[in-house]
Amino acid sequence: DTVSWDPEETGKSGYDHYMLKEIHEQPRALRQCLRGRVDELSASVDIGDLGDLSPTGIQFVACGTSYHAAFYAAQLFQSAGIPAQAFLASEYATSPPPIGDALVVGVTQSGETADTLSALREARHRGARTLAVTNVVGSTAARECDHALYIRAGPEIGVAASKTFSSQLGALNLLALATTRSDEARDIIAALRDLPGQVQELIDDSDAKEVAEHYQDAKSYFFIGRGHMHPVALEGALKMKEITYKHAEGFAAGELKHGTLALVTEDTPVFATTVGDGEQATKTVGNVKEVEARDAPVVAVTDGQSDIERYADHVLTIPETHPRAAAVLANVQLQLAAYHTANFLGRSIDKPRNLAKSVTVE
Ligand code: G6P
Repeated sequence: DTVSWDPEETGKSGYDHYMLKEIHEQPRALRQCLRGRVDELSASVDIGDLGDLSPTGIQFVACGTSYHAAFYAAQLFQSAGIPAQAFLASEYATSPPPIGDALVVGVTQSGETADTLSALREARHRGARTLAVTNVVGSTAARECDHALYIRAGPEIGVAASKTFSSQLGALNLLALATTRSDEARDIIAALRDLPGQVQELIDDSDAKEVAEHYQDAKSYFFIGRGHMHPVALEGALKMKEITYKHAEGFAAGELKHGTLALVTEDTPVFATTVGDGEQATKTVGNVKEVEARDAPVVAVTDGQSDIERYADHVLTIPETHPRAAAVLANVQLQLAAYHTANFLGRSIDKPRNLAKSVTVE
């Protein structure tokens, strides 16, 4: 289940940074993730033999960016009626929740993160079945878990995860489709199929560089979203923090009024994501109005269906698609916004201070 990558891919291939190259590699990485695994005609998914995977409950453990993918994955299972939760691996190992007969899934790009390995060991020790969702064949997580599902993103050199997050979301959708029943399976598969091309178009047309230039001097950035856009908001903030060294905070849009609104001023750009024009989007637009009323600049990341643009200073457009796929697309806009902000600031984008690609201590 490996993918071979050209030797030239170990260089930056003309990009200023590995991170930018890896952002641009996402269409290909997503294609690799899906290749041979989805059948559109029968609306079915084949992710290989992962044993008897019809979980009655599922617990995800992960750190950093992978935790945001795990949080998103838990939402997918919850919507299929399966009790599902995402845990920060470091906390899981410290105070493990009751497992029952839940499947425990470690989401880890490297397969070597000490906190995640420790949480998985704790789960195994308590008799749980474990699955590693990882990028690295032969990694410790892949070897130690009962089964492994590979995200097939190819090597990622930039310390801040980019393409591997998108591939994690792709692979976790496949896991959900393969193990649960969904009336929307056909729509989701079609949306996944369209995703690589849509990511490509989004990257080609993105206005994220102008947005980054405009707000590069801000001291703080906020990111808000509901539902699948909540993990996207968390990831958008993490990316901004990691590579720009600026304060950034992501949270559920509904939480804004419960504290953070006190920090919102004309100096704090707020990235707000909405998809569709349903209740979730309408509520987020309501939160955006509160932000706008405090003179904070609003960057709307949107498919244009809600009226968020009326309250926005800038718009980063994503194409209309299933909300699950929209999460990947919205995140790509936020990756680009963080990347260009860091680049304007002259930061060490591929190797941010104090951070490591893989953290092997607890
Ligand atoms: C480090 C990296 C992050 C990554 C996290 C989890 O902190 O800097 O980018 O998300 O580890 O890594 P993993 O390999 O387990 O996904």
